[in-house]
Amino acid sequence: MNPQITALLLCTILLSQSHAHSHTVCIIGGGIGGASVAHFLRHYSPPDAISQITLFERHGVVGGRLATVTISGETFEAGGSIIHPKNYYAWNYTLLLGLRPEVPSHSDDSLSLGIWNGHEFVYKTLNSNSKLPIVQRLVSIANSIIMALRYGVVSLFRMNSFIEATINKFLRYYDGLESRPVFESVEAMLKWAGLFNLTTITLGEKLEEVGLSSILVQELVTVITRINYGQSVNISGLAGGVSLAGSGGGLWAVEGGNWQMASGLINRSDVELHLNEEIESVYYLGDAYELNSTKGKSYNCQVTVVATPLDEVNILFNPAISIPPRKLQHTHATFVRGLLNPAYFGLELVSDIPELIGTIESGDLPFTCISVLKQHEKDMTYKIFSRQAMADVLLDKIFSVRVETVRINWAAYPHYHAPETYAPFILDGKHLYYVNAFENAASTMETSAVAAENIARLILSRIVEKSESTSPNLKIFSSDSSVSGLRSEL
Ligand SMILES: Cc1cc2nc3c(=O)[nH]c(=O)nc-3n(C[C@H](O)[C@H](O)[C@H](O)COP(=O)(O)OP(=O)(O)OC[C@H]3O[C@@H](n4cnc5c(N)ncnc54)[C@H](O)[C@@H]3O)c2cc1C
Ligand SMILES: *[C@@H]1O[C@H](CO)[C@@H](O)[C@H](O)[C@H]1NC(C)=O
Ligand SMILES: *[C@@H]1O[C@H](CO)[C@@H](O)[C@H](O)[C@H]1NC(C)=O
Ligand SMILES: *[C@@H]1O[C@H](CO)[C@@H](O)[C@H](O)[C@H]1NC(C)=O
Ligand SMILES: *[C@@H]1O[C@H](CO)[C@@H](O)[C@H](O)[C@H]1NC(C)=O
Ligand SMILES: *[C@@H]1O[C@H](CO)[C@@H](O)[C@H](O)[C@H]1NC(C)=O
Repeated sequence: MNPQITALLLCTILLSQSHAHSHTVCIIGGGIGGASVAHFLRHYSPPDAISQITLFERHGVVGGRLATVTISGETFEAGGSIIHPKNYYAWNYTLLLGLRPEVPSHSDDSLSLGIWNGHEFVYKTLNSNSKLPIVQRLVSIANSIIMALRYGVVSLFRMNSFIEATINKFLRYYDGLESRPVFESVEAMLKWAGLFNLTTITLGEKLEEVGLSSILVQELVTVITRINYGQSVNISGLAGGVSLAGSGGGLWAVEGGNWQMASGLINRSDVELHLNEEIESVYYLGDAYELNSTKGKSYNCQVTVVATPLDEVNILFNPAISIPPRKLQHTHATFVRGLLNPAYFGLELVSDIPELIGTIESGDLPFTCISVLKQHEKDMTYKIFSRQAMADVLLDKIFSVRVETVRINWAAYPHYHAPETYAPFILDGKHLYYVNAFENAASTMETSAVAAENIARLILSRIVEKSESTSPNLKIFSSDSSVSGLRSEL
C-alpha cells in the first residue's frame, strides 16, 4: 500500500479513536444545578475526556428559580433568596466569580415577627425602631424572654440541637474526594450521611420524638415551614430540618442577585450556551442521545444531564423513563409597593404591624407570609407568599395603598411526604442523568450544587477509562449501600 495512504489511514484511525474517548455532554436547564454540573465537570475532568459541554435553557436568561424582580426601579430576589452560612459551594462560587455576599437589608432575624391565625396575632415580638445599639440589644433580650415564655426554653434548645445535628450530617458532603464515594442513588447518598431516616418520618413526628412542645411545632415551626416550603409540618424531617436551618442567623445573599452564580459558572466553564432553546425530545440512538429542540434543531450527545424538575415539563424520552410521580408545590410570590391596612389585622397603626407576618395552618388563610422588603419614606415594598394567586379584591382588603403589584407563580419545590420516594440519578442505566432527583430530600441552591457535584463525578466515573482516572474517587455506593467499586462499561 502507498505509504502516504497508510499514514493517512493511521492518522484517521488515531483521530477517530481519540474522538471516541472524548465526550459531548448536553445539559438541559440553566439553573444553579445545570451550571454546577458544568463547573464540576470542568473542575474534575482529566484533559480531553470531555470535548464539549452544551447547555440548553428554554428562557432568555439563566438562573431558573433564581431571579430578581424589579419594583419601582429596585431589584429584589423573587425566588431563592437566602443562603445559609454553612452553604460552602454557594460561598465558594461567590468568591470564585468575584461576586459579593451581602446581608439582606432586612434579614429575617432582625425583623419583628407576628404569627397571624386569621383573626389575631397569637405571638408578636417587640419592634425597636431605635438605631441605638443598646436599645436594640434590650429589645432583643426582651424578645428572647417572650419567646422562652411561650415556647419553653427546653423545647427551643431541643429544636436548636435538632437543627445543629442535621447541619452537621449535611457537612459530610464537603468531605474530601478520597473519603467521599460517588453515589449512584439519592438513597445511598442520604444513607451515607446519616440523613436517610429523616426522610422516612414527618417533621411533626420527628420533633415530637425529640420532645418539642406541641405549641412550638404548631406555631413557630409551622410558620417557618410555610415560609420556606409553603407547606405544613407534614413535610419530611429532612426538608423540615433544612427549612429550620434557613431561619437562623448569618443568612446572606449575592449582591445584585443569586442568579449570577449560575451565569458566572456557565461563563467560566467553557460551555456552549443555547438560550431560548427548549429541549422537546431525548432519543437514545445506541451510542449517543439525539436531543431535538423547539428551534427544529437536533444535537448528538454521548452524555445527557437533565437539570430541571421533570414534573411539569414536556420532554419526550425514548425509550420511556419511569420516575415516581411527584407534585410540585406552587408558591405565588406577589410584590406590592404600598401600605398594609392595619384594620385588616385589627390594629390601629401601620407601625403596629409586624415586619414579618407568619401564619399557622388554619382554615383558608389567603396568604402564607408577608414581609417588608424595604421601607421607603412614605410607604414600603412587601413580598407576599401564598398557595393561591392573590386576587385584586383580596389585595385591596389587605392593603390600604397599592401603587405597584407584580405576581409570579413559581413551580417552587416538591410537595414533600414521609416516607419520601426518589427518582434515580441515572434515568436509563446508561448516560442519562437527573440532578433534580435530589430535590425530594430538600430543595435549596446548595442541595442543587451538592447533587450536581455528585452527578459530575458519577458521569466521569462512568466514561473515563480506569487508567486515566486520577482525582475523582471512583468508588461507587450502589443503591443497596455498601461499597461495590462497581463501574458500568461505556
Ligand atoms: C419562591 C422560592 C423561594 C425559595 N427560597 C429559597 C431560599 O431562600 N434559599 C434556597 O437555597 N433556595 C430557595 N428556593 C429553592 C431554590 O431556588 C431552588 O432549589 C434552586 O434554585 C433550584 O435550582 P435548579 O437549577 O435545580 O432548578 P431551576 O432553577 O428550576 O433550573 C431549571 C432550568 O431548566 C430550564 N428548563 C426547564 N425545562 C427545559 C427544557 N425542556 N429545555 C431547556 N431548558 C429547560 C428552566 O427554564 C430553568 O431555568 C426557593 C425557591 C422558590 C421558588
Ligand atoms: C472552597 O474553597 C476553598 C479554597 O479554595 C477550599 O479549600 C474548600 O475545599 C472549598 N470548599 C468546598 C466545599 O469546595
Ligand atoms: C435508621 O433507621 C434504621 C431502622 O429503624 C436503623 O437501623 C438505623 O440505625 C437508623 N440509622 C440512623 C443513622 O439513625
Ligand atoms: C398532616 O397529616 C395528618 C395525618 O395524615 C393529617 O391529619 C393532617 O390534616 C395533615 N395536616 C396538614 C396541615 O395537612
Ligand atoms: C464572563 O467572563 C469574563 C471574564 O472571563 C468577563 O469579562 C465577563 O464579564 C463575564 N460575562 C458574564 C456575563 O458574566
Ligand atoms: C429529531 O430531529 C431529526 C432531524 O430533524 C429527525 O430526523 C427526528 O425524527 C427527530 N426526532 C423526534 C423524536 O422528533
